[in-house]
Amino acid sequence: MSADPKTLSPGAGDDAPLVQIEDLCVTFTGGRKPVQAVSGVTLNVPRGQVVALIGESGSGKSVTLRTLLRLHPERRTQMSGRVLVGGRDVLSMGSRELYDYRGKTTSMIFQEPLLALDPVYPLGAQIIESIRRHENISKAQAHERALALFEQVRIPSPERRLQAYPHEMSGGMRQRAMIALALACRPQLLLADEPTTALDATVQIQILLLLRELQRELGLSVIFVTHDIGAAVEVADRVAVMYGGRIVEEGTVRELIRHPQHPYTQALLGSRSHGAMTPGQRLQTIGGSPPDLANLPAGCSFAERCSRASEHCRSAQPAAQDVVYEGSQGHRVRCFHAGPATPSTPVGEAHALA
Ligand SMILES: Nc1ncnc2c1ncn2[C@@H]1O[C@H](COP(=O)(O)OP(=O)(O)O)[C@@H](O)[C@H]1O
Ligand SMILES: [Mg+2]
Repeated sequence: MSADPKTLSPGAGDDAPLVQIEDLCVTFTGGRKPVQAVSGVTLNVPRGQVVALIGESGSGKSVTLRTLLRLHPERRTQMSGRVLVGGRDVLSMGSRELYDYRGKTTSMIFQEPLLALDPVYPLGAQIIESIRRHENISKAQAHERALALFEQVRIPSPERRLQAYPHEMSGGMRQRAMIALALACRPQLLLADEPTTALDATVQIQILLLLRELQRELGLSVIFVTHDIGAAVEVADRVAVMYGGRIVEEGTVRELIRHPQHPYTQALLGSRSHGAMTPGQRLQTIGGSPPDLANLPAGCSFAERCSRASEHCRSAQPAAQDVVYEGSQGHRVRCFHAGPATPSTPVGEAHALA
């Protein structure tokens, strides 16, 4: 699965992270005021690893993900920074390069497969078309690949199911079909935007386990957006917490669960211990409202909801800093008052959602 060396920039060998996002800013300019949806996001995804993006609604998770496929309305979106996937510069790709890149290097599964799948074509036809768009192979060969994909995502009676239309399948089977479609052109990077949120609890777990299994089997890198902290623990290697369009804390799953440093991370995770987390556990909600992305404050955008905030927090933007302790692996936080939560520094009212 190694990339064509001609397309790699210097230093982007096999050891380099597959995804390197540097200081990404995304602003939507279509409305009355510009909406600064993503501000200075820096994130690496090592090859073969899963990074979970967590945070409240509207924190910029989906926008970050969609940027990796350049799915924003181009004329109404300003993007700056750098996004490299396999050494290729995604933000500067022309339409032909994008066409080749989408699906083949990077593909995406969405929360609601019914919106992503075409209702008027059988599933098999959609997969075959996707394969033949990128590869010069016969219909029969593409059909064989589609059948193998349905087997790989454990769809029973795969030959018959290839003829089915999306609405003829259950939610869980449809999500499996969408995973098959996403894997059709053998991508290296899979983006998953709340892929199990719309499913029943037992089906959610099956889909998560399938994703984890396929990810390991195929050596995929995955960015996984979720509200389900139990799912993040189950599936991810690293977690990045987003707030107001910024990554406020990032580290391995274990680091974030055991040593959260940012008051927002601490509030989201509440007092749960690592061992107690199973899929289906939602992040906690916290008091107050998220920042207005059309009117971001000069300082830390969490200051208004944070019991540790000082005057300095309201006027200056905290830079990301390393959190260093024995065994820490790239644990970073953006907060002037980062540190473990103690009973004397409450982090806002936390209410369990589920
Ligand atoms: N195409 C768009 N035009 C204008 N605003 C957008 C567009 N897409 C997303 N946004 C805004 O960007 C912000 C972040 O959205 P999003 O990344 O979808 O949040 P989430 O973290 O819930 O996935 C939201 O305020 C959303 O309304
Ligand atoms: Mg979203």
